[in-house]
Amino acid sequence: MLSRSEIDVAVRRLAGELNRDYRGKNPLLIGILKGSFVFMADLVRQLDFPLEIDFARVSSYGRGRQTSGKVRVLFGPRCAVQGRDVIVVEDIVDTGLSVSHFIAYLAKRHPASLKLCALVDKPARRRVPVQIDYLGFTVPDKFLVGCGLDWDEKYRNLPDICALEDEE
Ligand code: PRP
Repeated sequence: MLSRSEIDVAVRRLAGELNRDYRGKNPLLIGILKGSFVFMADLVRQLDFPLEIDFARVSSYGRGRQTSGKVRVLFGPRCAVQGRDVIVVEDIVDTGLSVSHFIAYLAKRHPASLKLCALVDKPARRRVPVQIDYLGFTVPDKFLVGCGLDWDEKYRNLPDICALEDEE
C-alpha cells in the first residue's frame, strides 16, 4: 500500500515540520510500543534539535485483528513528563482508542505541551476523536502490516506497508 520510498518522503516531510516547530526546544518523544519503533527510529534520525526519547506500552489488541476496546497502559515513560514538550509517536491511529487513552494518561501528568505524530491514519474505523498534529498518510480501511505494524506479531520487519489479504 505504501512503498518504502513513499514512507521515506513522508518521514522527511514530518521531520521538516517538527524541525520548524521544535527549534530551540528540548522535547520528549514518546513512542508507543511495539509498533512505533521503526517510525521512531526513522523519524529521530531526521530531527536536528536536542531531544529525548522514551517509550510506553499500550495494549488493546492482544493477538487478534479486532481491538478488545479495553485499553491498558502496560508501562508508561520512565522520564518525567511534567513541564516537558511531549510528542507522542504512533505508527497507526485506527479506532483511536489506544492513543486517546494514552494522551489522557499523559495529560494528567501536566506536560507543557502535548502533540501527536502518527505515520498512518485510518479514519474509517475511528471510535473516538483524535487530533493528529503531524500525519504521514491517510489510508483506507485495510488491515496493514509492515514498518512496525504487525499481524499476530508477524511482518513488523517489512520495509513497506502492505495490506493483509482477507482469510476467505
Ligand atoms: C496498534 C498500533 C496502535 C494501535 C492503533 O498497537 O501500534 O498503537 O494498535 O489502534 P487503535 O487506534 O484502534 O487503538 P497494538 O495494540 O496492536 O500493539 P503493538 O503496537 O504492539 O502492535
